[in-house]
Amino acid sequence: MPLINLEDVISRYRNLEPSSPVFYYGLAIFIFCYWWKSTTLKNPSGLPVIGRRWYELGNGKAKKRFRDDSLGLVRACQKKHGDAFFLYTDSTYRLILCRNYIDMMRNEKGLDFASGLALKLDNGVHGFEPMATMTSSKKIIQAVAKHSLNRHLGTFTEPLNEESDYALRQVWTDNPEFHEVMLKDSVWKFFSQIMSRTFINDPDYYRNPEWVEASSEYVELSATAGYELRFFPGWAKPLAAQFSPNCRRLKDLYERINTLLGPLKKKLDKQGLEVDPKSPLGFLYQKVDGRLDELASYIIGLCLVSFDGGGELFTHVMHLVWSNEQLVCDLRSEIVNVVGKEGFNKNSLQNLVLMDSVLKEALRLHPESVLLLQRMATEKVVLADGLIIPKGTAIMASTSHIVDGSVWPDGDKFDGYRFFNLRQDPDRTASLASYNFTSTSADHFGFGHGSQVCPGRFFASHMQKILLCHVLMKYDVEVMIPEEGAWFQRGQTHVAHPGLKARVRRREAEIKL
Ligand code: HEM
Repeated sequence: MPLINLEDVISRYRNLEPSSPVFYYGLAIFIFCYWWKSTTLKNPSGLPVIGRRWYELGNGKAKKRFRDDSLGLVRACQKKHGDAFFLYTDSTYRLILCRNYIDMMRNEKGLDFASGLALKLDNGVHGFEPMATMTSSKKIIQAVAKHSLNRHLGTFTEPLNEESDYALRQVWTDNPEFHEVMLKDSVWKFFSQIMSRTFINDPDYYRNPEWVEASSEYVELSATAGYELRFFPGWAKPLAAQFSPNCRRLKDLYERINTLLGPLKKKLDKQGLEVDPKSPLGFLYQKVDGRLDELASYIIGLCLVSFDGGGELFTHVMHLVWSNEQLVCDLRSEIVNVVGKEGFNKNSLQNLVLMDSVLKEALRLHPESVLLLQRMATEKVVLADGLIIPKGTAIMASTSHIVDGSVWPDGDKFDGYRFFNLRQDPDRTASLASYNFTSTSADHFGFGHGSQVCPGRFFASHMQKILLCHVLMKYDVEVMIPEEGAWFQRGQTHVAHPGLKARVRRREAEIKL
């Protein structure tokens, strides 16, 4: 015989009035449980927990403190608590690891990048599908970078060269008189043009302004709309998206992108699955079995990974390089000496060592975020010094030591010659390769570090160098930095200021590119 009559229980609660004391007790218990759950952290190593203060009911204030000054907060916590602590970040508590832990965590199999990123990006909202491709367990974006871009890097040299020239002529024109342009907007346009050529390589698309604009607009809008949603708990995001004009615009844009790609899919269907593996598009088509919605998501996903880091970095490179006349002069001489003799190829691009140093230094001073190496513990992990990371812990690493003077002399200042000089130093302790733009270490992980490091960094280096050669050889540029500075923090993200302007004019290049 059942001890409780279920129907009785249901009817009792059905009759529950908001004025009944049972209702208020229930509500109080619910709020307490919610509060208790959100304060409870698995913390077997007894690390400091910085977030909600004892008198704060929810996490809203802790979130706001992080949003207002994430770098200052991380620095203060590190100074007070050392190299490992829990911090309430944009949406959850994360274990923040600092310099001493970077090499310990980098190859841990139980610390997963995609699951860590999913915590930040996946929101289940229509329109954000391309973001989910980055965290998909199918790892298709990773495969395109490793098997299509990296293996056939040489085949992209000429298209990158041609498209850099075309993009500059389109955006900055051939005008030999100085004229004003918005710097970040220009870089975005260069990237969308060049990436359309790389990823689609069909003139109906890469020479079609509607496609080029739509892809770049998606990258920008998804960052803003995603940032707006990040502060809502997971269950509330789809609802919040209904009321956000940016999320609604993103949904419409994603649908337009699907329509725009329809004719491309038809062309691919005609070719069948026998597509050239050297083409990222062919590679993608095979991987998604020709499904249009997935194809669209992955193409945009590729644009997202390439623009996100690459476009920001190139904007920083521009304002940093053009603030130093001597550096511009030295870079131009290097291009004339190296590319002037050999043209563009893998070897000559490697031999642009000053340019390599400039790119590495710009990425050091302007990493994508105050916190990188996002990981999720998919199992219990014990690091070399005994620190226990329980399953389900969200982790990020602080980049604060990379951008200040704690490991790099005068590290808070840009020195384009820094890695170039380190290479020449007879007393250097590190290998020459460690100063390459694409190398990573515990003191420079702008491309990540360890087994899940960015697989697109070789292509990114190739592309940035070719574009920078075109800019330096073919234009004079005077950058105007807004009063607030060349960049700002949006939450933990480091953003190049969209108000950066430049005066540009076409010049006679010393060599033909
Ligand atoms: C300058 C440009 C770029 C920067 C600064 C950059 C930066 C990064 C960073 C910081 C990570 C996280 C790595 C970690 O946590 O260990 C990452 C991952 C990744 N990047 Fe890049 N990236 C750039 C360009 C590209 C390009 C061009 C592609 C490919 C088309 C690409 C594809 C990826 C992929 C697929 C991952 C995920 C790796 C994984 O799941 O193991 N990136 N990138």
